[in-house]
Amino acid sequence: MNNKLGESHMHGKIKLFSGTGCEALADEISRYLNVPLSGRTISQFANENIFVQLHESIRGQDVFLIQTTSSPVNYNVMEMLIFLDALRRASPDRITVVVPYLAYGRSDKKDQPRVPITARLLADMITIAGADRYITLDLHADQIQGFFSIPGDVLTAFPLLSDYLRKKELQDAVVIAADLGFAKKARDFAEELNMRLALVEKRRVAVNTEALTLVGDVEGKDVIIVDDELDTGGTMVNAVEMARKHGARDIYLCFAHPILSPPAAERLRALDVKEVITTNSVPIPPEKQQPRLKVASVAPLLGEVIWRVHDGCSVGEVFDHYHKYR
Ligand code: R5P
Repeated sequence: MNNKLGESHMHGKIKLFSGTGCEALADEISRYLNVPLSGRTISQFANENIFVQLHESIRGQDVFLIQTTSSPVNYNVMEMLIFLDALRRASPDRITVVVPYLAYGRSDKKDQPRVPITARLLADMITIAGADRYITLDLHADQIQGFFSIPGDVLTAFPLLSDYLRKKELQDAVVIAADLGFAKKARDFAEELNMRLALVEKRRVAVNTEALTLVGDVEGKDVIIVDDELDTGGTMVNAVEMARKHGARDIYLCFAHPILSPPAAERLRALDVKEVITTNSVPIPPEKQQPRLKVASVAPLLGEVIWRVHDGCSVGEVFDHYHKYR
């Protein structure tokens, strides 16, 4: 990254704003870029209506709004949309919304009669609210990119996680995809780590899950169970049980988004695993922390990509030294 962020570029000077969804991460991104977060007021009236006001002019500038859409999901979504509206009405040159975790990714198809495709609705709302571009991390399903009519950069945090795991120098370890929907990405992850792949076949019954089969050999081996996100933890609990039943040795859990909806924190504490490896795409409150939780920061990745988007240079180059993530 060069140090010319204060200078005018084709879209004006860079301006960084943060919603309230992931303020610590936004601070870290601001430090990485050496660009201060611009002032704003965010408040809620007695009737719960959200109010956003910018403290400075952004006319003709290149604006980035950082807001994750984890719990409280619907508040954070609405705050992001209202913030985008406030930005748009202040006449910047361009607005990029940076959403480390994009909610509603699991509602990406009409797989039952009379259900919505909420991921599409959210993409439309982000666009209508005023975003010209978006940056996000590890979408639940890649086809969600097609729900946006504005350009975007969908990044992955898995290189950070594989870099962390590589340093452990695990011998003859196996990557297990906790969910068949994540099998292809788990295969890429296994290839990056030069490990073999196993799969847990899972069938979801209402809100509970039931693991049915483990395909692959994990007997006497260390295993890394991967998924895009950990929500209530049911999928991971099932995968751990399957791995234990099939004779796995040390077990590591690895996922990009620590949603940690109840009772995930309690489930994780009770699990016989070596480490739980994730990112700060979603803030983890103190009551959900635990010593085995290892959190890789996505701030340098997002900061670097924000700079590259601002400067009009390649984002793909960020992943060039990883074979599978380009
Ligand atoms: C599902 O399709 C996702 O990839 C994850 O497996 C799921 O979100 C995990 O949910 P939970 O932790 O509640 O089992």
